[in-house]
Amino acid sequence: GVAERVEDLLGRMTLAEKVGQMLQLDARDDLDDHVLGRNVGSVLHTSPERVRRAHELTARTRLGVPLLIAEDCIHGHSFFEGATIFPTQLGMAATWDADLLEQVARATAVEAAATGIHWTFSPVLCISRDLRWGRVNETFGEDPHLIGELASAMVRGYQGRGLGDPTAVLASAKHFAGYSETQGGRDASEADISRRKLRAWFLPPFERVAREGCRTFMLGYQSMDGVPITVNDWLLNDVLRGEWRYTGTLVTDWDNVGRMVWEQRVQPDYAHAAAAAVRAGNDMIMTTPGFYEGALEAVERGMLGEDAFDPAVRRILTLKVELGLFEDPRRPSPERIEAVVGSHGDLNLDVARRSVVLLRNDGVLPFAGGFGADAGGRAQAGPGGRAARVAVVGPLADDAQTQLGDWAGSSGQAGWITDGHPRSMITTVLDGLRAHVPADWSVTHEQGAQILTLEPHPDGERFPDGQPRPPVVAPAPVDADAIERAVAAARDADYVVAVVGDRIEVVGEGRSTATLELLGGQVALLDALAETGTPVVVVLLASKPLVLPPSALDAAGLLWVANPGMQGGRAVAEVLLGMVEPSGRLPVSFARHVGQQPTYYNQVRGQHGDRYADLTQRPAFAFGEGLSYTTVEYRDLRVLTPDLSPGDVLEAEVTVVNTGARPARETVQAYVSDLVTSVSWTDQELKAFVHVDLAPGEERRVRVTVPVAECTVVDASGVRAVEPGDFELRVGRSSRTQDQLRAAFAVTG
Ligand code: IFM
Repeated sequence: GVAERVEDLLGRMTLAEKVGQMLQLDARDDLDDHVLGRNVGSVLHTSPERVRRAHELTARTRLGVPLLIAEDCIHGHSFFEGATIFPTQLGMAATWDADLLEQVARATAVEAAATGIHWTFSPVLCISRDLRWGRVNETFGEDPHLIGELASAMVRGYQGRGLGDPTAVLASAKHFAGYSETQGGRDASEADISRRKLRAWFLPPFERVAREGCRTFMLGYQSMDGVPITVNDWLLNDVLRGEWRYTGTLVTDWDNVGRMVWEQRVQPDYAHAAAAAVRAGNDMIMTTPGFYEGALEAVERGMLGEDAFDPAVRRILTLKVELGLFEDPRRPSPERIEAVVGSHGDLNLDVARRSVVLLRNDGVLPFAGGFGADAGGRAQAGPGGRAARVAVVGPLADDAQTQLGDWAGSSGQAGWITDGHPRSMITTVLDGLRAHVPADWSVTHEQGAQILTLEPHPDGERFPDGQPRPPVVAPAPVDADAIERAVAAARDADYVVAVVGDRIEVVGEGRSTATLELLGGQVALLDALAETGTPVVVVLLASKPLVLPPSALDAAGLLWVANPGMQGGRAVAEVLLGMVEPSGRLPVSFARHVGQQPTYYNQVRGQHGDRYADLTQRPAFAFGEGLSYTTVEYRDLRVLTPDLSPGDVLEAEVTVVNTGARPARETVQAYVSDLVTSVSWTDQELKAFVHVDLAPGEERRVRVTVPVAECTVVDASGVRAVEPGDFELRVGRSSRTQDQLRAAFAVTG
């Protein structure tokens, strides 16, 4: 059995070999030293060449314990040249479709496994509340239930039918926990978060994926109550390993152990830091080479016993045995790479289409109107349709790199890396419109504005270790000539499509933003376009919700697509042209002003009014919002089980009617409000959602079920329980009161 093999191996390992098993180092550095010098158990950031070399070196070690090969396959096998790059996680979340995301994760696992990867650092379960945080794009948004559903689906997809399946890759739920709740949205700063708040909102998605069998968890960088997560005994041992009985493997984030010495300065040296990390129950130490010497020194100085490493090494070896790596290290296979890498274009297009969120439409959309496609795949304008001229403007209309999003370079994480993915695999919005407008329409293009200026870093373009150093970015100045050219194109057109948003250089780890506005010349461009009188449809291609000027909020049409991946431009074009119905829903609210942060929908009751003295508190667009090209009505919400006990399941029905002339894919959202709670609590929480496809005129009775056990409150001491009393079920198309029907139910006992 697995356990016997692991114990046998463990019994034969020296102390240094055990310490090495716990170490994961960067494969782009000195692989020989990693494997032969430090006996590492794992490497990350690989390529097929590095993986092959690493396995060769491992075969020369005393016990030949195979390596775990890890990579950030975040939205697709996103670092691998030619792999399928899906929309970013936030874009995927806008589909609200767990089945679809399971397929994405499966496809990613298949592509990654072909290249020799065993372990992906995905999905992200952080909750996006402060939108200034640079990593909002990597999350599933602001709601714990939605996050739990989508993350579980991705875990299932990655891990497949079990680790013995050669296309299974280990999933990693990250960043455990509360990492996004850092101060001022600043990446990795101290998280000012109470244990109750963690238990109420931040931990449930993690508990959910722990139950789903997610085999690894990654620990956040930050401290909580002054204790780095890496050594946070309460979180790791009382909660995760204790209450949840989690038996999976813990990996630190990048140099978390070293950071305790050189950054957070809570440990005097590497021996103390290593001892603390081992005692806290970490299994895999990411990119802290000094852990090796530190841990050995800790044993020498009597801070750790020789057997202190056994639990971690046991867990790591168990993964390796279960993955079957001793029999077959799953070397990269040129044939498999050829066959599967980049082969999920259809699925990718489907996800990209479904991730488009229509936020405003005065009737201008769709441009063409649903008359199908001609033999060349172009939209048909329909009877009487006239040849229209479309002016495609804006700095992101043809920006392939930004469209792919963060974590999509070939040689490391960073927006400033622009290589890695063949341009021919990417359809920008401009490409998409050119390819799909009706044959007799014309498309013109003007950039109109820049977003950022990029200057080489004054200390040089590379770090001393050779890694590229990010350029210095600043908002670009307004370019009056460029605006004039765009305005001329707009005047000459029947429709303007303005593609604006944020560039990849202000997105990602360590790249939080102080503002949320459209940077550079973009607002001036939109204002000028609004003056032309030509209907403007704003396509917001933005990693996260940005604050929009009136010229965007009041434009004829507005849609948001996050970073929609390789096929994003085609998906946008198809939606604009009416070839595809928009069906995305916001997984995160849009603020009107950066000073409103946070704007998430499920805030705790008890604020004075809903206004700042100088501005409404309401978001520009709320969680769950998203329009269709048709109209949908909700009628006759009935709770079928009005009197319930905590162990029961609430059942309700609602009639959903497509009252318009085009098909609808509706996301029926069910929120629960506990009317009186023992502690202050959120007014409503999403508890279920159901997709329903409706033909024009069609009506359906839709069943919604919610286990009462999920209608809980976390009390002042952090205990989660159902509190009997009166509740309300709210069902509708978004989290907004005006979009919901309400019905009462009661819980007794
Ligand atoms: O997986 C990532 C993590 O999300 C942020 N720090 C680096 C890790 C490995 O690249």
